[in-house]
Amino acid sequence: MVSSANHRWIITGCNGNLGKALCLLLGRRGLPVAGFCRPGRDVTTLVSAGVPCHTYDEFAGVVGDGDVVVHCAGRTGTQGSWSEFEKTNVDFSVELSQLVASRGASAFVYVSSIAALGYANRSGQDTLVEDDLPVLGRGESYGKSKHLAERRLAELCGSGSMRLVVLRPGLVYGSSGGDEPRVERPPPVLDPRQRVPLVHVSNFADAVVLSAEVAGPVATYNVVDEEQPCLSDLNRLKHELGRLTGLPRKVSRGRFAAAYCARALVKKLLGRPTPARGTLDAVLRFHGRRSLYTTMALREATGWRPLVSLVAGWEQMAGCALRPSGWKPAAPRRVGLWWSGERLADAALARVASNGGPVEIIAEARTSEAVLEAQRRRHFDCWVVLADVADDLLRAIRAMAWGCRDVCIVHTTEQQKAGLLGTKIPGVALRFGDS
Ligand SMILES: NC(=O)c1ccc[n+]([C@@H]2O[C@H](COP(=O)([O-])OP(=O)(O)OC[C@H]3O[C@@H](n4cnc5c(N)ncnc54)[C@H](OP(=O)(O)O)[C@@H]3O)[C@@H](O)[C@H]2O)c1
Repeated sequence: MVSSANHRWIITGCNGNLGKALCLLLGRRGLPVAGFCRPGRDVTTLVSAGVPCHTYDEFAGVVGDGDVVVHCAGRTGTQGSWSEFEKTNVDFSVELSQLVASRGASAFVYVSSIAALGYANRSGQDTLVEDDLPVLGRGESYGKSKHLAERRLAELCGSGSMRLVVLRPGLVYGSSGGDEPRVERPPPVLDPRQRVPLVHVSNFADAVVLSAEVAGPVATYNVVDEEQPCLSDLNRLKHELGRLTGLPRKVSRGRFAAAYCARALVKKLLGRPTPARGTLDAVLRFHGRRSLYTTMALREATGWRPLVSLVAGWEQMAGCALRPSGWKPAAPRRVGLWWSGERLADAALARVASNGGPVEIIAEARTSEAVLEAQRRRHFDCWVVLADVADDLLRAIRAMAWGCRDVCIVHTTEQQKAGLLGTKIPGVALRFGDS
């Protein structure tokens, strides 16, 4: 579905999880790809897939006019001091971007993270947009370094001819192919209502390719999938698909912290690297995060839609299909209601929006402009549309569907239904509810 261009796609950190997957996925789409990593790293899968791999000392000789550099290399996780995070995620990224600009590259795609906004929950705000101020607490060195890198890169690239695209993926999952399905033991859970903003690697690859074409000096986009499940729903899905041996147990904050400290002590005794000061605070914040993220900026600028859904992505990971009766999210569906004249009763709404499951109506709108505006600021699981809202229902649904996969239309006439049934809107599961 993505556009292709004649330039090359240069991927740094090509031996890492994401870098390797991007090399393979972009290569399979027929795009010319080259990978970069440090010397002595294992790149056999890439080389046998026909992806040329180089080390960073060859960078200036390989990168050239019009290339797009996707900077995936980075220090991740919670281990390490601030200066280690700063050196890799800020200094190295800035140096590389300057080198890339001097070689005439057309775009530098910086793979940041939603961690750049911080994982603290904001009171009164459930959804984060790109230009929200970060709230980064003690121990969030990873997020802080990502945010600082974004700022430094924007200062440098804003005035030059090379475009800067900052992508902030959620937790990337999914396989680029060939992996054996893994079965895991259920980890202890601190907060079952923790939100897990995932992005399937193939959806992320689409975002990389589409966003590199965006005009303008600097652009920043959140990249998360449509469904942003809470942890208990995600674990039930994984269990249903045989990826977890059982359902996780909820533990108290004290027990969670004690287990974390015990693991750190064991590492210390074994002479392994231990977490820096303040990391426990950051870990507790991470395991209690409840924010959701909008992706309207990316969708509007590039036409991106996450084509691999949560269920399809995990079925692919598990190598099997979900039983039809298998899994339904228990968390309330966040529903938008678009109506003009008669408003449906809440019970009827609940039925059409989630087959009787819990529903939370988070916005009501009476015009397509109001629907779009709502979607820019909040995350919706489903929109319920009363068919009398617009003369041109299909056009209206197309516009609305930029923000939401699940669109349920009620009160349709037979003629409207026949018209809509024959139409495919990419990335949208159109449903008809009864009236
Ligand atoms: N995976 C996710 O869920 C996710 C989510 C959000 C953002 N991201 C971002 O995506 C990028 C890739 O993540 P990943 O999950 O693929 O991580 P990963 O598997 O740990 O790979 C990290 C890559 O960065 C390289 N790297 C680390 N330190 C380096 C240094 N000092 N100099 C040069 N290269 C260095 C590693 O090379 P070595 O093997 O030589 O150390 C490796 O190639 C990171 O920037 C991360 O912040 C990932």
